Amino acid sequence: MACPIDTTSIRPLIYAAGKCRMLDQRKLPTEEIWLEYDSYQGVAEAIRSMVVRGAPAIGVAAAIGAWFGARDIEAATGTEFMAKFSQICSHLAATRPTAVNLHWALQRMQSFARANVERSVTELKIGLEYEALAIAEEDERLCRKLGKNGAVLIADGARVLTHCNAGALATAGYGTALGVLRAAVAAGKKISVLADETRPFLQGARLTAWELQRDQIPVTLICDNMAGYLMRKGEIDCVIVGADRISANGDVANKIGTYSLAVLAKEHQLPFYVAAPLSTIDLNLANGSLIPIEERSAEELTHLGGIQLAPTGVPVRNPAFDVTPARLVSAIITEAGVVKGDYLKGLAALF
Ligand code: MRU
Repeated sequence: MACPIDTTSIRPLIYAAGKCRMLDQRKLPTEEIWLEYDSYQGVAEAIRSMVVRGAPAIGVAAAIGAWFGARDIEAATGTEFMAKFSQICSHLAATRPTAVNLHWALQRMQSFARANVERSVTELKIGLEYEALAIAEEDERLCRKLGKNGAVLIADGARVLTHCNAGALATAGYGTALGVLRAAVAAGKKISVLADETRPFLQGARLTAWELQRDQIPVTLICDNMAGYLMRKGEIDCVIVGADRISANGDVANKIGTYSLAVLAKEHQLPFYVAAPLSTIDLNLANGSLIPIEERSAEELTHLGGIQLAPTGVPVRNPAFDVTPARLVSAIITEAGVVKGDYLKGLAALF
């Protein structure tokens, strides 16, 4: 049964009364545990340890964390405040390197503080709380806009493959790639989704499958290595993914395995769509080779739920993201419009 309304109640975090509650995404889908944070150090640890994950969601969390830090600063002048505030932002920025939204949100918080440095410290603190809440509110609103822009690309009856989780859980709400699918469903299209398991952290199996099932959008789980077989059998009509950072020329960093899917989609002449807000586009980087790629712990591969899968001491590589060259991307869907073809020109024109 299709989701009857264009909405979802799923949220990765809720800010109220000076505290932030986060749904512990490491525990889904078997346990729904909410953890509470009220310090910037706590929020930084939540981002680093993947309590909250997904590019836009970690941007929102970082902004709230920066506000917690700002609130506790003792300073006599705006300049003294600014020096302490940039240290707090550096601490939050050091948690995860690839998703640019994290750095974008912290830059935005610091720009706000810098622009208001002549004001009293009390006024600065009040302003920063509003700025953090604005980042969260805008993110959900822009996801809905992006969703509508992308829904026109999804045909009625389409069988859509997605990778990782680019849903409500990965944003302030609604989602990017899954936002497009939510909007397609809301437009009356009968679609079905294939969710890649997404080794090693299993965002597809644990999060995308949970999120879509909960919102009654038809979803079938597959392992990452099944996509080629199913494409060849004609069981997939298009691929849609989110992004962690898009360089000026349209190269896309996203969850490890995305590049392989793009190559497979090209071979099978299937559209390969990327959905991301403008806050994910980094015009400062000319191409994807300049995007920093996070390497995560060996244990994510050698162990699963505490059970050892690989021999003790075996060398492991665990890059958490890869880069898909722009030439393999059929369209980049944003809240400001859909870009195809000449990404260098098209992406710059969106700003
Ligand atoms: O390591 P994660 O779970 O933070 O990686 C998330 C992804 O790669 C998502 O596809 C991306 O952030 C887009 S989320 C809207």
